[in-house]
Amino acid sequence: MSQPRDHWSSNTGLVLAATGSAIGLGNLWKFPFITWENNGGAFVLVYLICIAAVGLPIMMAELLIGRRSQKSAVGALKDAVASKWPAGRKLGALAGGWGVLAGFILLSYYTVIAGWSLYYFTKSLSWTFGGYPVGMLPGDLFNGQALNTGLQLLLSLGFSLGTIAVVYFGVSKGIEKIARIFLPILFGILLLMLVSALGMSGSAEALGFIFRPNFSELGMEGILEALGHSFFTLSLGMGAMITYGSYISRKHSVVKASGAIVALDTIIALVATVIMFSVIFSVAGMREEISGSTVGMLFISLPELFYTEVPFGVVLGPLFYVLVALAALTSTISLLEVVSAYLIDERGLTRHKATIGAGAAIFVFTTFAVLSIPGLLGVSAEGLLSTMEIFDGKIGWFATADHFVSNWMLPTGGFFITLAAGWFMTREATKSELMDGTEPRWFKYGAWRFFIRWVAPIAVAAIIVFVIRGVDFS
Ligand code: PFF
Repeated sequence: MSQPRDHWSSNTGLVLAATGSAIGLGNLWKFPFITWENNGGAFVLVYLICIAAVGLPIMMAELLIGRRSQKSAVGALKDAVASKWPAGRKLGALAGGWGVLAGFILLSYYTVIAGWSLYYFTKSLSWTFGGYPVGMLPGDLFNGQALNTGLQLLLSLGFSLGTIAVVYFGVSKGIEKIARIFLPILFGILLLMLVSALGMSGSAEALGFIFRPNFSELGMEGILEALGHSFFTLSLGMGAMITYGSYISRKHSVVKASGAIVALDTIIALVATVIMFSVIFSVAGMREEISGSTVGMLFISLPELFYTEVPFGVVLGPLFYVLVALAALTSTISLLEVVSAYLIDERGLTRHKATIGAGAAIFVFTTFAVLSIPGLLGVSAEGLLSTMEIFDGKIGWFATADHFVSNWMLPTGGFFITLAAGWFMTREATKSELMDGTEPRWFKYGAWRFFIRWVAPIAVAAIIVFVIRGVDFS
């Protein structure tokens, strides 16, 4: 006999857990960097529009698909397609499986980057107590740790074990409990950092850069990058939110939760960007130094600045890297849950076996990611994992996997989800999930249906067309 399904204990529990999934390296690491690359203002505005017009409707779609079927991604998408087209169950299963695979691959390298935050946390603690080493070249420190294979395996193993430990205890006793503790800590640290950053001399210029749009600075690729990133940052397109939706009980509102998750994720991304840019704009010559990589901003430029420029940086430095680690952990938890929930619901495994088995299998691929770090950093190296090139210019397994997930898997998965909710499910089915008496007054079902049937699929199809034509969003 199967166990009764675990549920979130309250709407707040659901919102915190799903927001924990959404807030991650995408907010703290990727968003500030792509905002920088795309010259701020106009890019940020377009991003906000993408979040509202595409991200929010798909968030509601994923949560409602999950809540309706009370099954993880594969089962839920099967049911969604079968709602109008019983013979299409296989297609739904295939799409769900595609999402589970995306979760598997994404988790395999996400823990490696998360591991770097653990390293910088311990390093910054030692600088806080022992003083920042004068004359150290931050780039050398970064490369030194990243190219130390043993250390990298240890860090990512630590992160993977932490993830497995939480998912092992299940939805309400593991995932929700951790989110209830970690998210408030995360918000608190960010608030402290924001106050400190706004006091710096470059903050006004940073705010202008981020919020004053100048459309001559933004090209078509920037627009698509904003759209592509809205999927990644909201954990959409691979069934994570379908899975979390399957633990929502009838009493709780999909619409309210979606609004809160999307709003919190967006605010945190903006706050992180304001903090980082305030620091960067306050230091002479720093802009030129923020060169060609995301890694550069978070792990090369910032550590030193905490100890030389930021008010209370000796305290904020270690706190910042704890923040990155906590944000990453609540995301890796949701990735492992996608894979584990599939094994539990569709393959009949117990939660304990599913979590440990999936965690161990994914870690095998994490070792591939670690072994391919030289390829990622452009350091000359030998061996297939570091030198393989399936996609143009993506050298090594790490870069290949990231490219495949962000460019191909999330948009195609997201496209299918818009079809499932907008076209395969009946109007009555989606309406009864969204308009169940728990919805807030601002919500209009007809508007949602228009966005999920037309706006979202067309926008996502545009990403896919551009990816096919060779544009790169990873
Ligand atoms: N939303 C996460 C971030 O912004 O870092 C990444 C992510 C987590 C994507 C979980 C997908 C997912 F299922």
